[in-house]
Amino acid sequence: MTDQAAKLRTAVGGPARLSAIAVTGGKGGVGKTCLAVNLAVALAKLGQPTVLVDGDLGMANADMLLGLAPERTLADVLAGTCSISEVLLHSPFGVSLVPAASGVDELTRLSPERMERMISLLAGLARPGTPLVIDTAAGIGREVLGILKAVRVTLVVVTPDPTSMTDAYALIKVMEQQHPGGDLRLVINLADGEHEARQVATRLQTVARTHLKRELPLAGWIPRDPALADSVRRRKPLAAGATLGPAAAAIRNLAVRLRGEPW
Ligand SMILES: Nc1ncnc2c1ncn2[C@@H]1O[C@H](COP(=O)(O)OP(=O)(O)OP(=O)(O)O)[C@@H](O)[C@H]1O
Ligand SMILES: [Mg+2]
Repeated sequence: MTDQAAKLRTAVGGPARLSAIAVTGGKGGVGKTCLAVNLAVALAKLGQPTVLVDGDLGMANADMLLGLAPERTLADVLAGTCSISEVLLHSPFGVSLVPAASGVDELTRLSPERMERMISLLAGLARPGTPLVIDTAAGIGREVLGILKAVRVTLVVVTPDPTSMTDAYALIKVMEQQHPGGDLRLVINLADGEHEARQVATRLQTVARTHLKRELPLAGWIPRDPALADSVRRRKPLAAGATLGPAAAAIRNLAVRLRGEPW
């Protein structure tokens, strides 16, 4: 076991969790990457440089949202051709990115040993007081679950679309079966107001309570905001702007609450 992996074990022998927030959701296109990137920028704006990890290992795109163009990625680190600090890219927004590759198939089929190695390398980047932020791929593949079981907090992004709710529930159910007791929290995205966001959250919370006997706290909700879609096209995070529109303000509030927890 590496030193960093060893650091991840608690005194009682169970696995300690990586000081990180994973952003997931089950379904594709629900806003996971937008949230991960803007949350990292919002955390950095609160005063501490933040590391964002692109955990969408085969279809990375967090780099684009930060206006960065990586030459080397996590794929090179796992192949042993460079160190993790050599792939770390610094953005002008106080966020450093661990980029992943796009179109590299092996990265979507990591062995459990490589997954453990990746998590221990990430543990080496964590700084006291600020969590890492990890974007994940859609779905409930082994790589996604491997990240979720390792982190301290998981944000499950859900939209009012019924297929998003079904996919989010599927993800929560699989996590509860395979790695019970994880800190999973809902973020409702693309909501047309607080009423709709709370309705979506209540529906999922009721199903989880009835069938999985677990609570799903609502971490926050993000309104539909054309400025967020526009920021993707401009490749500049919304949260970096001086004035905050509705989505950026919601993400900032979420960052403030998360930053207030002991990391
Ligand atoms: N709150 C929002 N308001 C308006 N548009 C949004 C919002 N959230 C996300 N979007 C739009 O949805 C698109 C998809 O978002 P994003 O890439 O973050 O989804 P994803 O869940 O990471 O997708 P994938 O599963 O493919 O990785 C964005 O490019 C943006 O245009
Ligand atoms: Mg994404």
